[in-house]
Amino acid sequence: MSEKDQVGFENLLNEIRTFPPKPEFTKDAVVKDRSIYERAASDPVAYWETEARELDWFEPWTRTLEWDPPHVKWFDGGKINVAYNCLDRHLAGPRRNKAAIIWEAENGRRRTYTYGQLDREVRQFGNCLKGLGVGKGDRVAIYMPMLPEAAIAMLACARIGAIHSVVFGGFSPDSLADRINDARCRVLITADGGWRRGQVIALKHNADRALEKCPSIEHVVIVNNIPGEHQLLHFMEGRDHWYHRLMDHQSADCPAEPMDAEDPLYILYTSGTTGQPKGIVHTTGGYAVGAYSTTKYVFDLKESDIFWCTADVGWVTGHSYIVYGPLMNGATVLMYEGAPNYPDKDRFWEMVENHHVTVFYTAPTAIRAFMKWGDEYPAKHDLSSLRLLGSVGEPINPEAWMWYHEHIGAKRCPIVDTWWQTETGSIMISALPGVSTLKPGFAGEPLPGVLATILDEAGNEIKTGSGLLAITHPWPSMLRTIWGDDQRYVDIYFSKWDKKTYFPGDGAKRDENGNIMILGRVDDVLNVSGHRIGTMEVESALVDHPAVAEAAVVGRKHDLKGQAIVAFVTLKANQRMSSALLDELKAHVVEKIGALARPEEILFSGDLPKTRSGKIMRRLLRDIAEGRALGDVTTLADPNVVEALREDYEERYGG
Ligand code: WT7
Repeated sequence: MSEKDQVGFENLLNEIRTFPPKPEFTKDAVVKDRSIYERAASDPVAYWETEARELDWFEPWTRTLEWDPPHVKWFDGGKINVAYNCLDRHLAGPRRNKAAIIWEAENGRRRTYTYGQLDREVRQFGNCLKGLGVGKGDRVAIYMPMLPEAAIAMLACARIGAIHSVVFGGFSPDSLADRINDARCRVLITADGGWRRGQVIALKHNADRALEKCPSIEHVVIVNNIPGEHQLLHFMEGRDHWYHRLMDHQSADCPAEPMDAEDPLYILYTSGTTGQPKGIVHTTGGYAVGAYSTTKYVFDLKESDIFWCTADVGWVTGHSYIVYGPLMNGATVLMYEGAPNYPDKDRFWEMVENHHVTVFYTAPTAIRAFMKWGDEYPAKHDLSSLRLLGSVGEPINPEAWMWYHEHIGAKRCPIVDTWWQTETGSIMISALPGVSTLKPGFAGEPLPGVLATILDEAGNEIKTGSGLLAITHPWPSMLRTIWGDDQRYVDIYFSKWDKKTYFPGDGAKRDENGNIMILGRVDDVLNVSGHRIGTMEVESALVDHPAVAEAAVVGRKHDLKGQAIVAFVTLKANQRMSSALLDELKAHVVEKIGALARPEEILFSGDLPKTRSGKIMRRLLRDIAEGRALGDVTTLADPNVVEALREDYEERYGG
């Protein structure tokens, strides 16, 4: 950014209105004053200990925090079961007959599970898994559409002490296979298919293709979600089992396994800067405390709320804020299987109206799509049940924030912009809606008990201004390691400054009131529609194609998606560029990774800009993709390469 642009940007930021908490909201809020921040700051460990006491433990912990940087144990010695905390503990009182999950499908089909019903189903499915030989510590893969059975499968694993690994249903067979093999899962839980825009997504078919390469899988459980598809399924006797058949007459006597606080609860894969996704490991006690506590404070949950988090259970947001956090709080969650614009663009608002949703949590990419579709869609519906809105996954631009505030929140609902990651397990930076002054574009302050700050490259703290986001003290729901590769855990997260400081990979900026604005990733990780994709993963998928010699992938700003994937590709000597090949390469990436990684643009190029030592200069490719003036080119081996590339790119994509 030029100095003039920088000044303009600063002025713009200063002009942004702020929104103090409204007394009507604060009056009934879970957090009504700021004393919680002071209490937490004076002793973060004691703060988390107080939060932990609100859960049900079979045995108390002996040490709250054991910190051997960068490794950490929370509540060590304690025995707890997360499913027990989500279900059993609500059954003694009136929550037994309260809705836990209200589910609706795209075509309007509905199912509701009370806490009592959900508890029974989870126990029964726990016994099904045991019957298939699954025991404590075994890994179970879950590759499911947004069905209640996805949550039931997760909770059943948690109940019997198995470690679940949920793989987003949009991932390709190859991606599913990689994840199953990395964790050596014994069982896969899937469905015959999922629904999206009236079409069936053939999940079992994908799973079958993946399983050709997965020797560790002994059994597959299939939920029947598509009427009449039974006969079309390839059904392998002995390996494949219908969920409903296993559940038939299954006993509901399934005691919750007392887990050590530090026993793994789940693995969830996320993208990093290498071609190989990382299996983020979350443990039981600390994760439960983080998910429980942040749900209660950030979403200000009351007994009467209907909480709708629109994420998919395949992402960490679904784990923490559809399943574990809300259920530990005894809340009612809404779960939706389908697209926001099917059958029409008011599908979400119809749901809000029909189910009287009170707290709504979605992603900026969705908000920008709603804006584009037009104000008339939300205007058609009575959204007056809403009282709190949330945003997650990527920076929310002030324009989208204001639209959300006006057209969904009727200028009445606070908006919590929540920063966190798969690795952090729960929300780290966010407003508390009863006490925080909101500033569009800023996530706000670190939550009580979270020590987040901004450092420069050398590790000096930046009080106001921009630098790198850092977390300087352990928190209960932090990842404990990367599955099977602890050194990678140390290298990626705790080697930027010192072994005590966690590096999330985001740039950030702080204003004079301590509010933090997240500026986006500073590594080779893209954020496309709120989904994290490593540039290296896409590059590996491209060079896997026989025509490709070399590929470099960068992100470009995109109005709806936040970032779009741009690939620069060099073909092998005997290959000719053509638009057919271009489409084929895009399809190849989808085949290797999944539709979420489809490149928006591919440019064939005779050569890529490299340093004299042969390193691809991605920085210059980003300049080209974003139509900026080229940065420093003096280290280039062949300066002509970039000019030629830029001309090609502008000709094709308009710069
Ligand atoms: C990355 C984590 C955790 C929820 C889903 C994404 C970006 C997340 C925000 C926000 C700006 C955000 C960061 C982060 N991010 N929330 N409120 N404002 N950026 O989880 O796939 O692990 O990605 O998403 O860049 O590092 P994830």
